Amino acid sequence: MTRKYSKARSSAALKALSKVEVGQVMDFTSDFPVVIEKASGAAVIDVDGNRYLDMTSFFGAALVGHRNPVVLGAIRRQLGRLLHGMGDVHPPAVKAKFLSKLAKRMPAPDYKGLLSLNGSDAVETALKFATAATKKAGIIAFKGAYHGLTGGALEVTWNPVFRSQFQSTLAGRGRFVPYPTDHETAAKVLEKVEQIASSGEVGAIIIEPILGRGGIKVPPPGFLSDLAKLAARHNLVFITDEIYCGAGRTGTYLASDIEGLAPDVICLGKALGGGMPLSACMMRPWVADAVHGASHEAVHTSTFLGHPIACAAGLGVMQALDKGLAGRAAQIGGLITNKAQEWQQKYPVVLEIRGRGAMIGIEMAPGVASQVVAIALRKGVMVLTEGVSNETLALMPPLVITDRELNRALNIIESAIVESQKSLIIT
Ligand SMILES: Cc1ncc(COP(=O)(O)O)c(C=O)c1O
Repeated sequence: MTRKYSKARSSAALKALSKVEVGQVMDFTSDFPVVIEKASGAAVIDVDGNRYLDMTSFFGAALVGHRNPVVLGAIRRQLGRLLHGMGDVHPPAVKAKFLSKLAKRMPAPDYKGLLSLNGSDAVETALKFATAATKKAGIIAFKGAYHGLTGGALEVTWNPVFRSQFQSTLAGRGRFVPYPTDHETAAKVLEKVEQIASSGEVGAIIIEPILGRGGIKVPPPGFLSDLAKLAARHNLVFITDEIYCGAGRTGTYLASDIEGLAPDVICLGKALGGGMPLSACMMRPWVADAVHGASHEAVHTSTFLGHPIACAAGLGVMQALDKGLAGRAAQIGGLITNKAQEWQQKYPVVLEIRGRGAMIGIEMAPGVASQVVAIALRKGVMVLTEGVSNETLALMPPLVITDRELNRALNIIESAIVESQKSLIIT
């Protein structure tokens, strides 16, 4: 049953926004506009007072829940001290605290970090430092990959939708190979990577340990380790982009931890700041030390580097994970996967279930996932699609979601699947 809802305030707010915001940002003509007023835990309320359960963590950022009390406490304490620091001249004290806690979560003791605000920034850092370390501009990247939209990151973001209008600015640094999901393809991809690496033109490999925006795809066991070994043999910088799948999303702190890897560079973002803009590029010494300061200038820095409030929030996120939330990802993954497997038995539009922990993708028949998103929203669940054709329903709830809330959200999504399946049969 579709809920009764009012949309007057959301519609008015969106209309006002459409007059002042650049048009490409969003669909201002939506027939079900939702302008968000507040959120707490896994619950979201729009400006008309309609409630939603969040199965997105707002692009993955609210992993420990919206306005997590531990994160809020850390932010409040920091607000009373310092709002903005001088990152590369007189750094805020909290930056050192945050970076040392983060470094302890890395798979080897010698990582050093460079902080920034968005995932794309962390990828920019990774690519610049990798290029400085190897003096080679080419980068092996993967089809379906999303690494951000800034100049450098766009070189390795695959989807033509993001690239085509800026083609003339791209240097063609990315050499794209398929993202394997089975052993047979993995073997072929490794051969191809070996071939490209032997050309001597590339200096780095960048990979998402779980392909996020490309459709929640998981590589076969051993592939990441083989890739890391191949990179080491060719002196390539091995970069893992954990911006979507890292920081506790999949049941281990890093998604690549299950293969026991210590990549040369690890990019983190999204969940790292608990809703505050914070990203990090963590590097082993041979990459971290490849860029030198010059004439008393940091040559890769920014005004808000090591932002005190974001660092405090980041400390709060790690504390919240340590207080028991870390173990929740696997439980959530189990609950969602069980339910999704039932759906796969019942509904032919449910094609495949992928992912790990609180990052589960359900591939659906063409057109269905987007319909499910629209229907579920009207019924009170926020969920999004991933994948190049929006074919995958992405279930990425905050770890604080209760079993009751999760079951409710899943029941609503199931009823949305039933409705969209019916409409497929009629048309
Ligand atoms: C794997 C990955 N890398 C990088 C980015 C870019 O992050 P941001 O949008 O914060 O710049 C994203 C964003 O979705 C991502 O999923």
